[in-house]
Amino acid sequence: MAMWDQPAAPFIPGQYCVRIAQAAWERDGHFRLRHEVFCDEQQVFSRTDRDAIDDDAILLVATTCVLGSPHSVVGAVRIHEDEPGSWRGSRLAVQADHRRVGRLGAELIRLAVCTAHQRGATRFLAQVQVQNVTLFERMNWRSLEQITVHGLPHHLMQADLAHYPPHGLVETRMVRPLAARAMAQAA
Ligand SMILES: CC(C)(COP(=O)(O)OP(=O)(O)OC[C@H]1O[C@@H](n2cnc3c(N)ncnc32)[C@H](O)[C@@H]1OP(=O)(O)O)[C@@H](O)C(=O)NCCC(=O)NCCS
Repeated sequence: MAMWDQPAAPFIPGQYCVRIAQAAWERDGHFRLRHEVFCDEQQVFSRTDRDAIDDDAILLVATTCVLGSPHSVVGAVRIHEDEPGSWRGSRLAVQADHRRVGRLGAELIRLAVCTAHQRGATRFLAQVQVQNVTLFERMNWRSLEQITVHGLPHHLMQADLAHYPPHGLVETRMVRPLAARAMAQAA
């Protein structure tokens, strides 16, 4: 088959940006991605994954960067304060083509917890799907208990805030290691 007859691989950029969503396109992209992951892919929710927490939550996004500018939303998470000093993160999602390539999930978790810490969190919790517990443990979270959420096995987990300094940044940028791209292309 000639090269131009082969299906194009999805565009995977060399640079990503993780930031607090402010513009309308970032917020729309955040909700669109959550719907794609939690309704269409995982079928945790049938019609919508949005709930009352979204009224007060801080929304974070991971975006691709093109020529240095944030371009399209490929990652999402939200955080909210559920009681004084106690914050929660939820709806962590990375678009399927961008998983395990740019550390987007890890950087969304990092900015989420650092942002809450900056805003006064003394405790940060999340209900983590069981297949992701190792990811969180490697990021200095510990399991408090096993629970069932939406009929699925989860762990209630707590972040060690000593590893999440309250740096006050609203954005971090990451350059994807070129070695990973070369390995993916060679595979
Ligand atoms: C879970 C999820 C957000 C992870 O995002 P991601 O961008 O693929 O993860 P990252 O690339 O940041 O992973 C960071 C590291 O953890 C590893 N990792 C990623 N997911 C992992 C998992 N489920 N278990 C163990 N390790 C994992 C990566 O390989 C990477 O390792 P490295 O540091 O050695 O390179 C993503 O897989 C996803 O959206 N899944 C579907 C929705 C979902 O499950 N949401 C979470 C609900 S709790």
